[in-house]
Amino acid sequence: MLEVKSFTKKFKNIEAVSNISFTMKSGSIVGLLGPNGAGKSTTIKTIAGLLKKTAGEITIGGLPSKSIDAKKKFTYIPEVPELYDMLTVKEHLEFIANAYEVDDWEKKAEKLFKRYDLYDKQDKFGKELSKGMKQKVSICCGLLPEPDLYLFDEPMIGLDPKAIRETKIIFKELKEQGKTVFVSTHLLDSIENVCDRILVMKNGKIIADGDINSLKKQLGNNEHASLEEVFLEVTKDE
Ligand SMILES: Nc1ncnc2c1ncn2[C@@H]1O[C@H](COP(=O)(O)OP(=O)(O)O)[C@@H](O)[C@H]1O
Ligand SMILES: [Mg+2]
Repeated sequence: MLEVKSFTKKFKNIEAVSNISFTMKSGSIVGLLGPNGAGKSTTIKTIAGLLKKTAGEITIGGLPSKSIDAKKKFTYIPEVPELYDMLTVKEHLEFIANAYEVDDWEKKAEKLFKRYDLYDKQDKFGKELSKGMKQKVSICCGLLPEPDLYLFDEPMIGLDPKAIRETKIIFKELKEQGKTVFVSTHLLDSIENVCDRILVMKNGKIIADGDINSLKKQLGNNEHASLEEVFLEVTKDE
């Protein structure tokens, strides 16, 4: 579903991502875990086509990530929700439905609003929403087109516990439908029980890749340490 080959991204003199490669199969939930500044957002934004790569190749469903056909296969849910001040909650979904030509969008939007407790907030304007409500609307916009690949950048930030639980349930439903979920986070426990596989990123490089058990083996030499302890140890600054 997603193939990233020898990808490097430089911002002037900073190398934010250094020659990383990975592939992702359909029907999986993959976490991208790393401390602040590791290069997670840069990686996700470049996959989504919002940043130009310095080197490497990225394909989505076998198509170059920049092509129009590739863009139809994924949605990107940014770290900081970007809503329109003067569109209502429902109008945001209508806008996305038109852009992605979503059939029966009102029914689908209604279901999402119910799951995210937005049903009675549909007529509120973007500028009237709290940070958490904006994040929920942004997630609904990402889910509405039902693409094959979902790129979530730190989706749990700002969500209340109920919305976090709902989002995890949705990830699992998507996986069951054969979809692919790629989710970045700097908080291990927000994805620990959800991901089939976790890529651990530090200083622009992938330093471990596998399921929770194999990560412990790859990262730690103390088998009694919790994964969190191992993660903190390997990602701390020297
Ligand atoms: N637009 C930018 N211009 C210059 N440097 C950037 C830019 N965006 C990110 N960086 C740098 O790239 C590195 C990785 O950042 P980022 O991908 O946002 O990390 P993460 O999402 O893992 O916290 C950091 O050192 C950050 O300062
Ligand atoms: Mg980030």
